Amino acid sequence: MRRNPPKRLKTLQQGILPVLKRERWIVPIVVEEFFADGDIDKAVRNAAKEAYGMDDIEYTWVDRDRYMGIFHEGAPAKNAFECLDCHSEGGRIDWLSLGYEGDPLLSAIVDK
Ligand code: HEC
Repeated sequence: MRRNPPKRLKTLQQGILPVLKRERWIVPIVVEEFFADGDIDKAVRNAAKEAYGMDDIEYTWVDRDRYMGIFHEGAPAKNAFECLDCHSEGGRIDWLSLGYEGDPLLSAIVDK
């Protein structure tokens, strides 16, 4: 695990990765392929073939932590929303049509 991730917006993911038993190489699976049919063994074997030209592999799973940069849909700080961009009359969220009884910020203030 990386001990000093750069000070940018990161999310920590914990998971497992397939690794070739003998070589100890990570097998870079195409997750979309796995999502499509749910066959993880096939995805691992296809990845070993694609990445390393290997058939008939032996692999195992290892626990990993990874930091994943959040590089999409993150606006620069100067464009960040403020509370009232969403929580105000005529704001960007139409609370009623989303099924709320009203702006939840207002309810939170009024109820307390
Ligand atoms: C991008 C839109 C957006 C911004 C900006 C935003 N909110 Fe919200 N807020 C929401 C949404 C959506 C919900 C409803 C969340 C839910 O139902 O789980 C919510 C819910 C709330 C609630 C009710 C929480 C609860 O548990 O009932 C409060 C209080 C609140 N926001 C306060 C704020 C404050 C204070 C800020 C600014 C620091 C802020 N919001 C900024 C969209 C926003």
